[in-house]
Amino acid sequence: MAEIDPLEITPEHVYLSRRRFLTGVGATVASIVLFGGCDGPEPAPPSDDWCQSAQVGADTDELGDPLTPCEDIISYNNFYEFTTDKQKVALLAQDFRTSPWNVEVGGLVRKPRTVSMDELLQRYPQEERIYRLRCVEAWSMVIPWLGFPLASLLEDVEPTGKARYVRFETLYDPEQMPGQKNRTYDWPYVEGLRLDEAMHKLTILATGIYGRPLLPQDGAPIRLVVPWKYGFKSIKSVVRIDLVEEMPVSLWMATARHEYGFYGNVNPDIPHPRWSQSSERRIGELRRRPTLPLNGYADEVAHLYEGMDPKELF
Ligand code: MTE
Repeated sequence: MAEIDPLEITPEHVYLSRRRFLTGVGATVASIVLFGGCDGPEPAPPSDDWCQSAQVGADTDELGDPLTPCEDIISYNNFYEFTTDKQKVALLAQDFRTSPWNVEVGGLVRKPRTVSMDELLQRYPQEERIYRLRCVEAWSMVIPWLGFPLASLLEDVEPTGKARYVRFETLYDPEQMPGQKNRTYDWPYVEGLRLDEAMHKLTILATGIYGRPLLPQDGAPIRLVVPWKYGFKSIKSVVRIDLVEEMPVSLWMATARHEYGFYGNVNPDIPHPRWSQSSERRIGELRRRPTLPLNGYADEVAHLYEGMDPKELF
């Protein structure tokens, strides 16, 4: 059966208008094909040999699961600034200018700074972190990132006592990013973390995969990676980081708040309003596998949420 990309992350108003259309033509079966499952199409092979020189320090994550092939990581992407078609992101993003690139770090800090990529790479030693990435759409990968703890950068700018959250912003440049001409979304892409989540040792700013600098489709030149949260929190191509007092409103909260909350913690027991989160398809595998609480990082991060209602943490 030919699979149609379900675009599970589609906001509800778009989804509802599609449903109305489908209902209108009495296409119940078609609606099950479109929205009944979370499996996307098989990744397309990449067009070049970028992965030939991939380097990595280990073959598995700490649970013994194999790394997702490099070819899949660079050819099956969510990056709505370019397109909602996962297999076309790489092509549409190939000329994206990632140099020169600066990240402005400010807000409630004593030492605001604008840091160039060169400075970031020189100042913060890059380490390999092999993390599972669990998309809210119920597919997942195991990715060998290169990067450094976000905490190192935040400590350097000295957050004031008032800072409680961190707000991140992706570049806004519709000329380069044609998806930003789509007014369905309130660009630029914004994400946020609580300050203690941002300071956690697992939270990194990634600059590479498989030992090489990031490609545009994966969020070059620098992106956030928060492995216990759904992938939408791991914002790509970051240009601004602000320490703030109030909980930031992310692009997804602004689009469909009841579907994509602020926390976005991976939880197999809390279904998305339109599909189950209890299992996932690991890219490259045929069978679905159970989704782990906090994506398998509960021992490290569950204490951050002690006493909170899990329903607040979706
Ligand atoms: N960041 C920006 N700026 N724009 C996006 O569309 N998609 C998110 C996240 N970061 C997205 C983004 C989603 S939904 C996922 S699952 C991951 O990026 C996918 O990362 P990958 O394509 O490198 O696997």
